[in-house]
Amino acid sequence: NKVVLAYSGGLDTSVIVPWLRENYGCEVVCFTADVGQGLQELEGLEQKAKASGACQLVVKDLKEEFVSDFIFPCLRAGAIYERKYLLGTSMARPVIAKAMVDVAKEVGADAVSHGCTGKGNDQAMLNHQPFVLVRFELTFFALNPELSVVAPWREWEITGREDAIEYAKKHNVPVPVTKKSIYSRDRNLWHLSHEGDILEDPANEPMEDMYMMSVDPKEAPNQPEYLKIGIVEGLPVSINGKKLSPASLLAELNEIGGKHGIGRIDMVENRLVGMKSRGVYETPGGTILFAAARELESLTLDRETMQIKDVLALKYADLVYAGRWFDPLRESMDAFMKEITKTTTGSVTLKLYKGCVSVTGRESPNSLYRQDISSFESGDIYDQADAAGFIRLYGLPMRVRAMLEKGL
Ligand code: ARG
Ligand code: SIN
Repeated sequence: NKVVLAYSGGLDTSVIVPWLRENYGCEVVCFTADVGQGLQELEGLEQKAKASGACQLVVKDLKEEFVSDFIFPCLRAGAIYERKYLLGTSMARPVIAKAMVDVAKEVGADAVSHGCTGKGNDQAMLNHQPFVLVRFELTFFALNPELSVVAPWREWEITGREDAIEYAKKHNVPVPVTKKSIYSRDRNLWHLSHEGDILEDPANEPMEDMYMMSVDPKEAPNQPEYLKIGIVEGLPVSINGKKLSPASLLAELNEIGGKHGIGRIDMVENRLVGMKSRGVYETPGGTILFAAARELESLTLDRETMQIKDVLALKYADLVYAGRWFDPLRESMDAFMKEITKTTTGSVTLKLYKGCVSVTGRESPNSLYRQDISSFESGDIYDQADAAGFIRLYGLPMRVRAMLEKGL
């Protein structure tokens, strides 16, 4: 039998390879997903995996799928967790887990495994948090209930970094010399998250040298930059008239947004497992895209539609955060989001300047805004005389209550 292991090349996953072989007597297929975390991490990985005892390393480029099937639906839905978090890590877990299920099928494996710690282990040191488990495993359950999930950290005796290094040496596994960051970070094409160390005190301002995707707004160019984002049916398709694939569009906006210091988010969030947690996120391209997509809806959606959409977006974001991407509830809500944004086509012009993105214009062939109706100048369809009767009826309930109170 065979197991597919989510593999990063770090100490913990390197140690899991021999541990799986020893304890389960299985062949280990290592799997690494490219979700835009930065290619350096992928170099020399196959050699490393084999040196740890893996029979194979499978690398999949998931960038386009990640953006078009995970990020863009959240963008279209307007899904934001707790007013600020653009869900970068939450969206990446299900695309990676889904690919693991696919790889398991391709190589004929009956189990999957990942290097995530549960609560109680030395998680800070190992850069893993309780939640990763939930997001991975819910996806495995939803996509292939027959797969077994092996979570070594829940079973084994290795309790800390020293232990892990010793185990590696005993099994002739090269100990990776990865430079340890003081922060717990997670990076992909959408965002970079920072947690831990001085950030654990929510009163502390992050240090400038922590940021990696965006410049300090005060170092940003002194000239504003204008951008025109083209949108078709709620999804971005072009920058300044240039059509781009979802992943290249996002990559380009990260570049531009980062240069202007856009998209830094500093927040305290409620984790699924109850505790609060302070996190700082860099989401330059995402921040630009959210500004554009929401703005276009101001032309294409009416009041009640927008309200319902916003209400559902809260729940949508909750589900994504909680790892329930493949829950039929999210899928059904997504069908609603798709339908309701069918007319959200057009473009939005944005101005980027010193950490801020502001909207300067919006256009749509499906705009519900009509200058001939809304103008202060004229009034053909909108007849002032209609107003008097409308106001009397619209205000009737308030009037009746006031009459009652006055005994009239
Ligand atoms: N708090 C964010 C989330 O739950 C980001 C987590 C980043 N993960 C990590 N292992 N550093 O989605
Ligand atoms: C994750 O990395 O998917 C979540 C980490 C956590 O909040 O436990």
